[in-house]
Amino acid sequence: MSLLSIRNLTVRLGRAAHAPAILEDVSLDVQPGETVGLVGESGSGKSTLGMSVLRLTPPLLAEGTSGEILWNGQDVLKMRGKALRQLRGGEMSMILQDPMASLNPVFSVGSQLGEALKRAGRADLQAAAEAALAEVNIPSPAERLRSFPHQLSGGMRQRVVSAIGLAQEPKLIICDEPTTALDATIQFQFLELLRALQKAHGMAMLFVTHDFGVVARICDRVAVMYAGRIVETGPVREIFRNPRHPYTRALLAAVPSTREAPDRLPVIDGAPPSVGNRPEGCAFHPRCPLATDRCRTQPRMEPQAPGHDAACWHAKEVAAA
Ligand SMILES: Nc1ncnc2c1ncn2[C@@H]1O[C@H](COP(=O)(O)OP(=O)(O)O)[C@@H](O)[C@H]1O
Ligand code: SF4
Ligand SMILES: [Mg+2]
Repeated sequence: MSLLSIRNLTVRLGRAAHAPAILEDVSLDVQPGETVGLVGESGSGKSTLGMSVLRLTPPLLAEGTSGEILWNGQDVLKMRGKALRQLRGGEMSMILQDPMASLNPVFSVGSQLGEALKRAGRADLQAAAEAALAEVNIPSPAERLRSFPHQLSGGMRQRVVSAIGLAQEPKLIICDEPTTALDATIQFQFLELLRALQKAHGMAMLFVTHDFGVVARICDRVAVMYAGRIVETGPVREIFRNPRHPYTRALLAAVPSTREAPDRLPVIDGAPPSVGNRPEGCAFHPRCPLATDRCRTQPRMEPQAPGHDAACWHAKEVAAA
């Protein structure tokens, strides 16, 4: 059984059947210990997906949510009270793009980390907090526990957020563009750290990013999202070598540093549609070099290779190109 199994998740702007959909019919599985990348341009619905899993979407979107989000077989969308608190504060945790959004500016690092460790049932709080900071490679942990968030660099704050997120030994950590605000060297170090922590703790990770280069570094599998739908999914190596969706190919072509990415491909012209303005059929058709009349109806996800699915009427031509 999958650790997380998202089934036909649709998130609309409100309850009405025809309200614009931010996410449409999204299905995605995460196995224990696995890292799944969720990649797509800004506005494709990645954060909404991450927030939905933790039931953190605002009321308008929560009302417009349908489908199933199965966590160890239990539907998160039906959870209430204690079950939901247990999920959010323990079994799953989240690292956001802006660490200040997760930290409280008026409390010291020690007091925020201490709270998390207390909830995790730790008694030896000082020692546990120092060990937690040491684990995320923060120098002079005892001193840093007395610091306030604004006294730390962006990279150090993100490490503190990770230490807090790990305090309760989550089975899944959802990272929403955690390195986007960090500069390149720090970004690389933080990704290495996340990967090491994930291995050490045997956690699964859902890693949201707009950068295929990051996917190549840390993910086992990847799901490509366009205008609120998953358009291709498969093992990372397979997707890099054999992309079947023109949008995936275009994203890969935009990765300069990846040797495995196919070259000689045009960069994608145009912009993704806004919610409420999604074209009929395959939403990519106004930007797609292979589009035909057929693309005005929505293609279904079809198997391309073991574990590799894509939703494109012309996937075979992409493979042959
Ligand atoms: N609460 C909301 N009300 C209206 N539109 C929203 C809301 N939340 C997200 N959206 C819209 O949904 C789309 C997807 O947003 P988001 O999930 O943040 O995408 P991503 O994380 O991929 O950039 C965007 O066009 C955004 O403007
Ligand atoms: S279905 Fe058509 S428009 Fe959509 S990606 Fe495939 S070829 Fe392009
Ligand atoms: Mg986002």
